[in-house]
Amino acid sequence: MPPRTLIRNGLLVTAADESYTDVLVEDGRVVALAEKGSAVAEGWSAETVLDATGKYVIPGGVDGHTHMEMPFGGTYASDTFETGTRAAAWGGTTTIVDFVVQSVGHTLREGLDAWHAKAEGNCAVDYGFHMILADVNEDTLKEMDLLVDEGVTSFKMFMAYPGVFYSDDGRILRAMQRAAGNGGLAMMHAENGLAIDVLVEQALARGERDPRHHGEVRKVLLEAEATHRAIQLARVAGAPLYVVHVSADEALAEIATARDHGLPVFGETCPQYLFLSTDNLAEPGFEGAKYVCSTPLRPREHQAALWRGLRTDDLQVVSTDHCPFCFSGQKDLGRGDFSKIPNGMPGVENRMDLLHQAVVDGHLTRRRWIDIACAAPARMFGLYPKKGTIAPGADADIVLYDPTAVQTVSAATHHMNVDYSAYEGRELAGRVDTVLSRGEVILDQREFKGRAGHGRFTPRGLCQYLDHPAGG
Ligand code: URP
Ligand code: ZN
Ligand code: ZN
Repeated sequence: MPPRTLIRNGLLVTAADESYTDVLVEDGRVVALAEKGSAVAEGWSAETVLDATGKYVIPGGVDGHTHMEMPFGGTYASDTFETGTRAAAWGGTTTIVDFVVQSVGHTLREGLDAWHAKAEGNCAVDYGFHMILADVNEDTLKEMDLLVDEGVTSFKMFMAYPGVFYSDDGRILRAMQRAAGNGGLAMMHAENGLAIDVLVEQALARGERDPRHHGEVRKVLLEAEATHRAIQLARVAGAPLYVVHVSADEALAEIATARDHGLPVFGETCPQYLFLSTDNLAEPGFEGAKYVCSTPLRPREHQAALWRGLRTDDLQVVSTDHCPFCFSGQKDLGRGDFSKIPNGMPGVENRMDLLHQAVVDGHLTRRRWIDIACAAPARMFGLYPKKGTIAPGADADIVLYDPTAVQTVSAATHHMNVDYSAYEGRELAGRVDTVLSRGEVILDQREFKGRAGHGRFTPRGLCQYLDHPAGG
């Protein structure tokens, strides 16, 4: 008989329920749930028994937006699949969905093959892929159908970064039409990049070169305008739309209006927009470079709207947009010119803990915490109920979470391959204690037991927030 693990005495929390429930795991999957203490009566036996007294037993986190080893601004995101997925495990995330980059002039297949080569044999937790469309043309449109069949069912486009990832409205419309036909999910980086580039040029000409100007030129109105435009293009195409890294109240309002009209429009925000602000971008000297990402951090007044959006389900998902660059040697590229600072921030290890803080502070219920961090991303990206919940048949991706622990976040103790923490010195209530990935204990009471190569590529189905035609 395959080895069994019994998790006893914990408070099981899923997006739907919370109750004191024991969990039986066999052969990498959850096989049974029973009221706490009833394992003996049920006749359960197990080689490994984990005592979860005083702990939450929650699904492993699903981080739907990461960039391991991503090329950007003349350098590469500093976490490899090995270091980044190990850090994810430490932070209670057992599945990531990373973005494959199609480079201009190359096929989607070339991009996908390159990403498989980087990830295979190196990951500590399971992983899937989205595809970044940098070059929409007749061939790549056809390739989109093939990718959907291979479990790469979502496609990110950029209204920002002209000359790099940018797609014009015509290309966006064509790709959305294709997604409408093949069941894929269009994902949008919604910022008006052409207008932003004008403002960048003008700011630099005025001698405004510090990191804080990154936030000033990437205006809220240009995020809101692009969000509105993306929604209208998706309507014309008859396609669903997922807006990534929503940072501004006015952009969220566009999504909320669309949803009020019954449109299949979804939104994601990230911890940095909930916990950090333009105050960080304005830190003295070059410190603000640590917080340069796009969409940019906003004045802290936007945070209340984002929390509200998470409560009202106008935003469904919190992902990290983990895209780390070291302060020394990488962020440095933009000293004296903010437009050359590589865009992106670390966070894959911190997401579950930061969001637990919102439970402690009363912004979210425990179940909503699990919904936005586990269940909703799993549904959004076609992984549910294999991932994102604890139920018979689900992969045994399970976290024992200690809500009473107190931790201080620091680059000195984190596991991401980056030389700073965006949350340095922050004291957080709660900490991941033990993590199972497909039934294997990969973090055992804060001792790492995982290995590169345990994590598997996980083909995804279609977005489960939508009705798809038969066969979809
Ligand atoms: O600044 C960011 N977000 N870097 C990663 C690329 C992207 O736009 O998601
Ligand atoms: Zn983006
Ligand atoms: Zn991103």
